[in-house]
Amino acid sequence: MKKLFIIGNWKSNKTKQEAHDWLKEIRDFNLPRFEGKEIIFCPSFTVLPFLQQWIENEHIPLELGSQDISAFESGAHTGEVNAQQVKEFASYAIIGHSERRMELFETDELIAKKVAQAKQYSITPILCVQGPDTPIPDGVTLVAYEPVSAIGTGHADTPEDAESVAKTIKEKNPNVEYILYGGSVTGDNVRSFTELPSIHGVLVGGASLDPEKFRSIIQNA
Ligand code: PGA
Repeated sequence: MKKLFIIGNWKSNKTKQEAHDWLKEIRDFNLPRFEGKEIIFCPSFTVLPFLQQWIENEHIPLELGSQDISAFESGAHTGEVNAQQVKEFASYAIIGHSERRMELFETDELIAKKVAQAKQYSITPILCVQGPDTPIPDGVTLVAYEPVSAIGTGHADTPEDAESVAKTIKEKNPNVEYILYGGSVTGDNVRSFTELPSIHGVLVGGASLDPEKFRSIIQNA
């Protein structure tokens, strides 16, 4: 069976109490440890330490990721959370999400520095690309193809298009091992993507906020 990544991106959502309630519900589902399915969720930095503790204590089969990482080492960079700090709580980091590229003007150069920082501290970057032409820095093995028109709109890309873009990305970047699809993924459409030969999972925004919707994505993938 091929390996699948199911990744939740909470974006700028959830207080500590809300994060607690989400995880409690997920725990009570008693999800089995799915063979070959890696379930990762990426909350805000503020709740990472608390969630990590809970996952560990309760043996919940989830991994943690951050939604970003600093391009700099530790030091005089006010407001930045660096890779060494993230590494204490998470093994993955989303890098280059289109919302950060658009709202915070992140460039491909900055994103390449973030990837280098993640790699240096053994964090796996989940690099978001918006199409086959987005540059992919060296060392990236996990890529999420997320067409901007599909993010948060309820209009997911067609599986045919996702497969064709994933194939092109793979041809241009032979070191990329896994390509995920992201953009309006739901429990109803997830399988149409995860069954594609070149797609190894999904990056889920809105639907990951609701434990029941996230569970149905995990189960149907
Ligand atoms: P969406 O977001 O699932 O809400 O469309 C996906 C993403 O931005 O990663």
